Amino acid sequence: MSASTPLPPRPIRELPDELISQIAAGEVVERPASVVRELLDNALDAGASDIVVRLSAAGVRMIRVEDNGQGIATADLPVALKRHATSKIGSLQDLESVATMGFRGEALAAIAAISDMSVLSRTADAPHAWQLDARTGELKPAARAVGTTVEVRELFFATPARRKFLKADATELAHCMESVRRHALARPDVGFSVWHEGKLLEQWRGQPDGAQALTQRLADVLGAEFADQSLPVDHQAQSNGRTVRIWGRIGLPDLARSRGDQQFAYINGRFVRDKVIVHAARSGFEDVLHGHKQPVYVLYVEIDPTRVDVNVHPTKIEVRFRDSREVHQAVLHAVENALAAPRAALAASSGEPASPMSAAGSQASATPDPAARAAGWQQSGLHLPTRAGTGGAGSDGFGAMWPSRPASGQASGQAVAFGADAPTTTGAQASVQTAQEAMRPWGGGEASADLAADTAALPEGHWPLGRAIAQLHGIYILAENSQGLIVVDMHAAHERIVYERLKEQLDQARIASQPLLIPSSFAATPQEIATAQNAQEALAALGLDISALSPKTLAVRAVPTHLGQADAVELARSVLAELAQHEASRVLTQARNELLATLACHSAVRANRRLTLEEMNALLRQMEQTERSDQCNHGRPTWRALTLRELDALFLRGR
Ligand SMILES: Nc1ncnc2c1ncn2[C@@H]1O[C@H](COP(=O)(O)OP(=O)(O)OP(=O)(O)O)[C@@H](O)[C@H]1O
Ligand SMILES: [Mg+2]
Repeated sequence: MSASTPLPPRPIRELPDELISQIAAGEVVERPASVVRELLDNALDAGASDIVVRLSAAGVRMIRVEDNGQGIATADLPVALKRHATSKIGSLQDLESVATMGFRGEALAAIAAISDMSVLSRTADAPHAWQLDARTGELKPAARAVGTTVEVRELFFATPARRKFLKADATELAHCMESVRRHALARPDVGFSVWHEGKLLEQWRGQPDGAQALTQRLADVLGAEFADQSLPVDHQAQSNGRTVRIWGRIGLPDLARSRGDQQFAYINGRFVRDKVIVHAARSGFEDVLHGHKQPVYVLYVEIDPTRVDVNVHPTKIEVRFRDSREVHQAVLHAVENALAAPRAALAASSGEPASPMSAAGSQASATPDPAARAAGWQQSGLHLPTRAGTGGAGSDGFGAMWPSRPASGQASGQAVAFGADAPTTTGAQASVQTAQEAMRPWGGGEASADLAADTAALPEGHWPLGRAIAQLHGIYILAENSQGLIVVDMHAAHERIVYERLKEQLDQARIASQPLLIPSSFAATPQEIATAQNAQEALAALGLDISALSPKTLAVRAVPTHLGQADAVELARSVLAELAQHEASRVLTQARNELLATLACHSAVRANRRLTLEEMNALLRQMEQTERSDQCNHGRPTWRALTLRELDALFLRGR
């Protein structure tokens, strides 16, 4: 390497003010949408209830934001444009508990440094408005109602390099719209309209706070599909006397997308992109969304402001939590809880909602457009009694008829109906069970025996998934409920039921096992034999007993009780193949759910199995009581509903 003599140091100089401002502006304003974001933040901070955004050339030529907020006093107008000038905080203590969107006193100065900006404003006690031209500093009287208009022209005119980085107009316009959308979702009580080139693009009316307002805003911004096919979230987590509240709506797994572009998370009203929340929400969907699908959601996190640092990112889109675990757990549980309750039982119209959000679901589904909905069958449109102890509502008279939902990890008599080990199996039932041994519908369990217990829990007319009427092509169960027709994918549904039950058992100790009268032996590969030897403990926990019969043969001597008729050899092979991929000691923690899913898949009722109506009804009752039973283990829906109204719409039948 040739050593080159270092150059003499260049003198250190202070930068000119204008350049300082332009550098600072670069951090805050990346594109027109950044200006829209800052101006909307300011309008909301000023208490506006109506905001109009006007754009020209996707905001590059002009962005104008008009609000009806409190306005800026004339004497303050020039100050508002100065760097580090703000009315929102005055001390470090204020900063640490800031509740406004703005706090740096930088946005207007930054925008003014890279555009042609003017501010027109009038306060309630002023006889008329004043307009300040940021470039010339000229202040002149003007006409305007109380509120503020900020107009930004020729963005980046002074920094052409930046301007070159802008994308096509359509892209920049989309980013601007996204900014408006994020704010609109945060504040359903505020009206927003957006104009582009003199054309009205969107107009969302504000309504006083409440469930109706939020439902309407979600439908406006994210579409009727989301409003219709989403579940309310409302969860309050307490730890060490502190409360984190999470509410909002999450899209049904059906709505999941390949990208995470429909995930809106807010912390104390501020839109954020936060890894903790994204991860927690995705984890909450883990059991119903497989692969790389991304859920859709709007989640609002309310947390003591002193426990979040909002001053970590120039555009404030990232935050730092004092205790990110606390937030992670709260979001995870909020999502899990919302997903766990079987929808058939929960899509209830109830009296007084516990929170604005919990009513949103019934609101949305109460106003379906039959023609539009007939095209895509719904899962959430049932109007059924809420079960006691779920959803926080449910004092509608039906609640008492429901057995309370078993908490996860806690086996419940009513919930375990298909298993021979069901704790509710009484002597009388057991004898029925033996009599019916020959026709075991789903393996070890007994449909008909437990049917009695289930139907006793709820009168027939109130079964959310209805009364089975037929089986279609050996795949689907057709059922009739008070709203119309229910179609159930029987394998998918049963798979979920078995899976949830296996999970419960494994949580408690190990999966109940049943020896085979005649062991099933099969010719095994050396790897299968090695795995069987190394993973005895894991196999036992899973309810399997597999051991070598000879150097080239394995024998399956016991299988999980639920698995009844599953092909023992096929099952053993799949489980061994999966075990082989993991380190034996960690398999039950790392691959637990996949293993259980494999077991469940093998034991679930197969297509083309003829079922009796009683068996079908038993399956439906099981679904109503099993967590997450609206999706199979692979995230596909297990049932769909078609209401009479929708049927009528299909047949153009007026009612
Ligand atoms: N639309 C508006 N209505 C009323 N006052 C406004 C409006 N926009 C700005 N202001 C006033 O001007 C000040 C400066 O605004 P600016 O956006 O530059 O800073 P900020 O909002 O305080 O902080 P940040 O830089 O974090 O946005 C604000 O503190 C506020 O007092
Ligand atoms: Mg601001």
